Amino acid sequence: MRLSLLALLLAVVGIWAIEHDSVCEEGSADCPEPSHLVIRLAKRDDTLAAAIADQHDMRVVGRPFLDSHYFLEHVDDSKKTKRHKREAVERLRDSADVEWVEEQRPRSRVKRDYTFFDDTADQSFSTNDRHKRSDARDPKRYWPDPLYPEQWYLVKGAVGNYDMNVIEAWDLGYTGKNVSVSILDDGIQRDHLDLYSNYDPMASTDINDHDDDPTPQNNGDNKHGTRCAGEVAAIAGNNQCGVGVAYNAKIGGVRMLDGPVSDSVEAASLSLNQHHIDIYSASWGPEDDGKTFDGPGPLARQAFYKGIKEGRGGKGNIFVWASGNGGQRQDSCSADGYTTSIYTLSISSATFDNHRPWYLEECPSSIATTYSSANMNEPAIVTVDVPSGCTKKHTGTSASAPLAAGIIALALEANPSLTWRDMQHIVLRTANPTPLLNNPGWSTNGVGRKISNKFGYGLMDGGALVKMAKKWQTVPEQHMCTYEYKLSEPNPRPLTSRSILNFTLSVGGCESGTPVLYLEHVQVVATVRFGKRGDLRLTLYSPRGTRSELLPPRPQDFNTNGFHKWPFLSVQMWGEDPRGDWTLTVETVSENRNLGGTFHDWMLLLYGTESPAQSNDPVYAGAVPVSASARHRADGTTQVQFARSPDPFAGFTAGDASFPAGDGFGGGDPTSAAASSVGGYMAADTEAKNPQELTYGDLKNAGNCHPECDDSGCHESQSATGCFKCRNLAQSQRNRAGFKCVSTCDAGYFEDKAQHSCKMCSPKCKTCSQQEVCDSCTGAQLLIDVDHYGQLDHGQCVAECPKGLMTDYDSDPLQPKCILPKNPCAKGYFFAGDGRGSGSCAVCHEACATCHGPSPVQCDQCNTGYANKTVGYCRPCCKSGEQPDVVHCGSLQILPASLLS
Ligand SMILES: *[C@@H]1O[C@H](CO)[C@@H](O)[C@H](O)[C@H]1NC(C)=O
Ligand SMILES: *[C@@H]1O[C@H](CO)[C@@H](O)[C@H](O)[C@H]1NC(C)=O
Ligand SMILES: *[C@@H]1O[C@H](CO)[C@@H](O)[C@H](O)[C@H]1NC(C)=O
Repeated sequence: MRLSLLALLLAVVGIWAIEHDSVCEEGSADCPEPSHLVIRLAKRDDTLAAAIADQHDMRVVGRPFLDSHYFLEHVDDSKKTKRHKREAVERLRDSADVEWVEEQRPRSRVKRDYTFFDDTADQSFSTNDRHKRSDARDPKRYWPDPLYPEQWYLVKGAVGNYDMNVIEAWDLGYTGKNVSVSILDDGIQRDHLDLYSNYDPMASTDINDHDDDPTPQNNGDNKHGTRCAGEVAAIAGNNQCGVGVAYNAKIGGVRMLDGPVSDSVEAASLSLNQHHIDIYSASWGPEDDGKTFDGPGPLARQAFYKGIKEGRGGKGNIFVWASGNGGQRQDSCSADGYTTSIYTLSISSATFDNHRPWYLEECPSSIATTYSSANMNEPAIVTVDVPSGCTKKHTGTSASAPLAAGIIALALEANPSLTWRDMQHIVLRTANPTPLLNNPGWSTNGVGRKISNKFGYGLMDGGALVKMAKKWQTVPEQHMCTYEYKLSEPNPRPLTSRSILNFTLSVGGCESGTPVLYLEHVQVVATVRFGKRGDLRLTLYSPRGTRSELLPPRPQDFNTNGFHKWPFLSVQMWGEDPRGDWTLTVETVSENRNLGGTFHDWMLLLYGTESPAQSNDPVYAGAVPVSASARHRADGTTQVQFARSPDPFAGFTAGDASFPAGDGFGGGDPTSAAASSVGGYMAADTEAKNPQELTYGDLKNAGNCHPECDDSGCHESQSATGCFKCRNLAQSQRNRAGFKCVSTCDAGYFEDKAQHSCKMCSPKCKTCSQQEVCDSCTGAQLLIDVDHYGQLDHGQCVAECPKGLMTDYDSDPLQPKCILPKNPCAKGYFFAGDGRGSGSCAVCHEACATCHGPSPVQCDQCNTGYANKTVGYCRPCCKSGEQPDVVHCGSLQILPASLLS
């Protein structure tokens, strides 16, 4: 049953053919090296998995995920050549017990905060802070924690005396007891004095290093997850920092952003302990650069589906997502497949003075808003920090998602039987638009609720949420109903630089199956090709007249392909009766008259229920007649209802089907994201290419710039991550947009002189001189200090020295090396041993004076009459007039590569 529906949808949507922006084409030069090897067995069997791994000279690392998926690693990884590993993987593929094998590549994922402040400033709390409001009121005394009064978003400290009404929920007795929240991020400081007693090991793991300890690396770059955790569940009443929104909730963290993030890493994180964890909070996603279309891969999608279907004893896990920080670059969260998934609650941000923050992204899939940071030096979010202490400077939509997760935890305590859909119902029904109505863009939907592409249904309200949770009855089963638009000739339909086309579908509410009469999610899956993807605008009108702008123009998106079967989501028609005419308007807004394209297809996925969600909701009676005009459009299109399914997986698969290969690996490799690109707010080279396209709002030179900034200025005073450009070197940041200006590269980075930048060393190196040439190794690894030793070369790190080399602990006490054993033989001979000490002395090649092997590339010194400068090994010296490239002789100088054969 499920299979046939699935097959039908697959056939219709054709999802096998399409890729995300971050998925690179096999064989393309831009592809990052695979970071994870994953297998799936028929069912979970740890013994079998270990045996299979062993047979292929691999081992299982970490825990299995999604029932029967295992991470494998090559034993002695660094000793094996790429070809060796490829062959091992091929053999694995042939193994009868292995259902599926994949080497997965990292995708570009960034944290959704930004740095406005020098982190070093975070530890100090001046008492005469200029934003400390003088109108201190009672709510501020609810807790004695020192920073509690500065949690303006809890203590009526936003302009207009607004807050998120969390105290009312506390007063009603709800503080998150018996609710478990997991932060999927760069780790959690589990021993922090303001977290430890709420720490939940069952909601925690370390997927980056495949162990159980999620403690972040304390290198200044991994504060994000801990900060998010503190917002949810910092301990109350303990004289540390402030308090968490759900200060009695259990809090865990998955360390998964401090390393390459592949689909399997996301899936393992999203599916951790789904029976135990109630709420997953994620404050990261594809790059918010205004030009990417990207979303969850197949395993992550499976993890979401499994979560809502089986998690929490079948009631479904709650996935809370930060909507994105690309506002400055006119990005839209509609191009982010995590926020357009029906399984996530996508959360937007508002400033302390009830405005849209500069980083906010607009889209109709945002369900609600919580407070967060504004401009520099304006109030941000108070939370705990890494490795200890507190910060008042947590920022971005990153800070909003955990506040939402905390408030949702209060509602789950009030009513643990709420399902994942119940939660979406009550969040949107109780969100309060009032404080935010002074912003443009609000409208009223077909059931009288205020909606906004900036703020969803409004600001979350803790008190209202727990009260509604308390009396909420579980919603009826969700059905899905799909309508495909049949485009008549010309098909595809041409688009010019200034087109407006309307495509109308007539919906009868799924007459021939289980009706969808009370809407929940609405998805549009569309295919459009256009010369500049960012010049497209898509708008959906419901029969009740609700307008959702599915895709706004994105000036930075110069992709020339368009998008293929991209799923757009609107939650703005929630509660409406879907029967009647739906119109999709496809508009092009190009200045460039030469641009054109084609419109290919769209379909409408309606999710909802047959009966009202709550017994006291209004009832929609009688069938709405489908208008005759809709059936016979001038362009001859007709509507076809072709599939419906009670199984959201069907919808999910179709819904999350995806897009064009266009960008390839959209700016993916963090090591290459150096000075010119990147930055949630700044991109020098993009600006240069399209000066007229960018507006930086009020992004001015902040003055008093860090000494590492060059003369063009900075958007943040005294911060090395706040420069527009660097005086010396620009250093990329891991899993984070932007760059840091430095005078010398930090440990773990090497200098790329040509690009004036510091790039990240290979993960095996602690320090390096080139990406793959380590100067020192991570952990207890040994550094190879011999040239051309079999497959190994100088600068590689290995777990143990290969046969024939000995370990040298003495020459550098901090970094043991693998070196050639002292040669017991006479000059001109080398020791041809069996590795166990016995052997004999053999003569060196005539090119060598001394050597460690029989070939001329194994000379330690060249013989007289030989030189090694030209090609790096000893060749007969060139006689006068001889060219090294012609007669293969050695010169005493290094010659340009172009002269060499
Ligand atoms: C805590 O939650 C679990 C799982 O929902 C439930 O079985 C248990 O009874 C709850 N305990 C309390 C004290 O509410
Ligand atoms: C397209 O449909 C919308 C919504 O029904 C309507 O407002 C608009 O005028 C139509 N535009 C055209 C060109 O027909
Ligand atoms: C090659 O030349 C360099 C620089 O003169 C020297 O340090 C090195 O030992 C030489 N290698 C051999 C094998 O002669």
